[in-house]
Amino acid sequence: MEKYLGNKRVLLDDIKSFAKVNCPDAKSVLDIFSGTTNVARMFKQEGYVTYSNDANRFSQVLGKTYLGLSTYPEFESLKSFMVNESKFLLADRLIKDLLKNYNISESEIRELVDSRLTNSIRVFNFLNSLTEVLPFVTYTFLDYYTQYGTKSYFKSMRGTEGKRNYFSKDNAIKLDNIFYYLKSWYSSKMISESEYHFILTSIIEEVVLVANVNGTFHDFNRNKLWPNSLQDMYLKIPAVYINSGPKGFSFCDDALVVASKNNIKVDLLYIDPPYNFRQYTAYYHLLNFIACYAEIPDLDSYLDKLSFVRGQNPDDDFTSDFCFRDKFIHALDKMVCDVDPKYIIMSYYGGRNHWNHWSKGEELQDFGFNIVQDYFQSDRYCEHSYSSIVKLRQNYQSRVGEKKKIIDEYLFFAKLN
Ligand SMILES: C[S@@+](CC[C@H](N)C(=O)[O-])C[C@H]1O[C@@H](n2cnc3c(N)ncnc32)[C@H](O)[C@@H]1O
Repeated sequence: MEKYLGNKRVLLDDIKSFAKVNCPDAKSVLDIFSGTTNVARMFKQEGYVTYSNDANRFSQVLGKTYLGLSTYPEFESLKSFMVNESKFLLADRLIKDLLKNYNISESEIRELVDSRLTNSIRVFNFLNSLTEVLPFVTYTFLDYYTQYGTKSYFKSMRGTEGKRNYFSKDNAIKLDNIFYYLKSWYSSKMISESEYHFILTSIIEEVVLVANVNGTFHDFNRNKLWPNSLQDMYLKIPAVYINSGPKGFSFCDDALVVASKNNIKVDLLYIDPPYNFRQYTAYYHLLNFIACYAEIPDLDSYLDKLSFVRGQNPDDDFTSDFCFRDKFIHALDKMVCDVDPKYIIMSYYGGRNHWNHWSKGEELQDFGFNIVQDYFQSDRYCEHSYSSIVKLRQNYQSRVGEKKKIIDEYLFFAKLN
């Protein structure tokens, strides 16, 4: 999920060392705006008791797999669905992904894949073989989200009409086929919760790669299918490495609600909030739909409500206080008070945000930085500092004329009184 808005994948080493230096005795962490869960995963690998939370439902699915899995799935009841052969070598791909993400030797990884993941590979081979139209399957994704559907029509506020175009025909057929089996296995309890989330994680990650969108799902390429969406959808095994360290936990709720429940006691609160008006639940609605698809009791009623050009059920929309400039600091303070950790680390993005606006030719000022810094100077805190991380990185919000100094990422540290 490299294109997830604001994801901190390239900053993981910086966050890791910043936490080590500033919070040396911290043993538990809550990543309260976890998104891709990349940061929470890094903390888990470092041995922290880790909690993730995000308003986006798909984030919890990833969390359940990458943080919460305590044994590799065996898929004991799916023996009759296991397929040995496949055109794509899932084991090789998994070994490569594990090597990339974890500091473990290749021989250890090969041993792990051979001894613990063979059944997963066989089940995924079966799911990946489902390319043909099947008479018993209801083709929801094909019907509602592609040009070939009968229910994919949209009319925009400006009067533009068309059909949603999120998937190629072949990929939509395969997605519906995969969901047919996933749903029936899950509802008949042939797979456990964690096996269900393991497969769902793979579906979410693959949809991100083959959907006909430019990074977010707020819109799709209207008139053609881009090369990524013409690639075959092919489920990969999630690259999870289970070690002997503490288990992780994941939630899906408003950060303010999770904080106010006051049942997660952590040493460190990591905060990576949105810094602009974009509501993530709208931008990633399709992943959130996929995350709950197999569990929706009355799918027809749910689908009847799909709205907007993008095709989202408005009941799934969530408005975050952190997306409003006037509510941001108050919401931040309330959340911190309720969680009451020992330490805070907060990522801050110094580009165009709630407070920073400028026109071409104007002197750039990072007003937001001063507002956040003022907040950490309040009586609530006994220590605070910050570090600037300048990364030459792809910046999805960058515009012509935006100077590099203002798109710095910062890490704020604060210790509570
Ligand atoms: C900048 S992104 C976090 C990215 C994440 N650190 C990563 O590396 O992928 C902000 C996240 O906050 C979530 N979010 C926004 N408002 C929220 C709220 N009130 N409660 C919970 N999550 C919220 C969004 O869904 C989004 O995933």
